[in-house]
Amino acid sequence: MSSIVFIGGGNMASCIIGGMIANGFDADNIMVSEPGAESRKRLEDSYGIKTTTDNKAAAKQADLIVLAVKPQIMSGVAADLAQSLDHRPALVSIAAGIPLKALENWLGSTSAIIRAMPNTPAMVLSGATGLFANAQVGTEQKTLVEKIFAAIGYACWVENEAQIDAVIAVSGSGPAYFFRIMEIMQQVGQELGLPQQVAQDLSLKTALGAARMATESGISPTQLREQVTSPGGTTQAALQTFEEQGLEEIFRKAMNSALTKAEVMSTDFGSASK
Ligand SMILES: NC(=O)c1ccc[n+]([C@@H]2O[C@H](COP(=O)([O-])OP(=O)(O)OC[C@H]3O[C@@H](n4cnc5c(N)ncnc54)[C@H](OP(=O)(O)O)[C@@H]3O)[C@@H](O)[C@H]2O)c1
Repeated sequence: MSSIVFIGGGNMASCIIGGMIANGFDADNIMVSEPGAESRKRLEDSYGIKTTTDNKAAAKQADLIVLAVKPQIMSGVAADLAQSLDHRPALVSIAAGIPLKALENWLGSTSAIIRAMPNTPAMVLSGATGLFANAQVGTEQKTLVEKIFAAIGYACWVENEAQIDAVIAVSGSGPAYFFRIMEIMQQVGQELGLPQQVAQDLSLKTALGAARMATESGISPTQLREQVTSPGGTTQAALQTFEEQGLEEIFRKAMNSALTKAEVMSTDFGSASK
């Protein structure tokens, strides 16, 4: 069994480890290196895994290392690990906006590195993760990484690194788009006369029901929308207003803004790593 080490034991690492344990990964093969005593205790108590504060010692015995620290401190953490990678483990970075070029500069240009972009629904094991590997990553390493991220929801490989920025615009930031829509529906529901709790429950359950139908029925969102839109009915009146007010264009602009921001972050980290 592969030994998997997390560098950083915060929110995202906890989610991934929780999903791994729930999906049959052996706790004996998982270790976290994390400075916070409280976080270490929580991880030990919740999942029965080993923890340490020594990043380098943990890295030395790992087959796969997940870098789960904040982007701002990644350069220092990665450069510090570089001398502990002679046994050539695979490295997975979940940090938003840090390009492979920067990671290769810090960790070594021949290191096997994967960029993973998970999202927050990973917390309820319903995440969506885009993955991209550099040329040094082998098939078995890819299979293991895919299994880890499938443990917290859905995972897929993208064809080139630029597509990771598109993943950020779609699924990385995506949960917040839907949360915003839920907020608006709840607010307007209240304005239409519903009590706050009723407006909230109806909005949230509708979002859940629609997401389940779209993911579980095998029917496309377009067909599902058409099925609930009777000619001349209430749904058609609402959807027509969306179209007249340019909903699609608003989403196009918003998602392009997210993409541009991700590209700028990648460029900044890429230049800073030289
Ligand atoms: N949260 C998300 O939704 C999400 C989604 C996609 C990607 N990501 C990426 O995931 C990464 C982690 O995010 P997060 O939300 O899990 O952050 P987080 O909760 O702050 O976790 C980071 C952990 O790293 C620890 N740490 C700090 N310095 C360290 C060091 N030198 N060595 C080892 N561990 C160290 C921190 O400990 P202290 O708190 O004691 O400093 C903290 O527990 C980020 O790069 C982020 O971009 C997050």
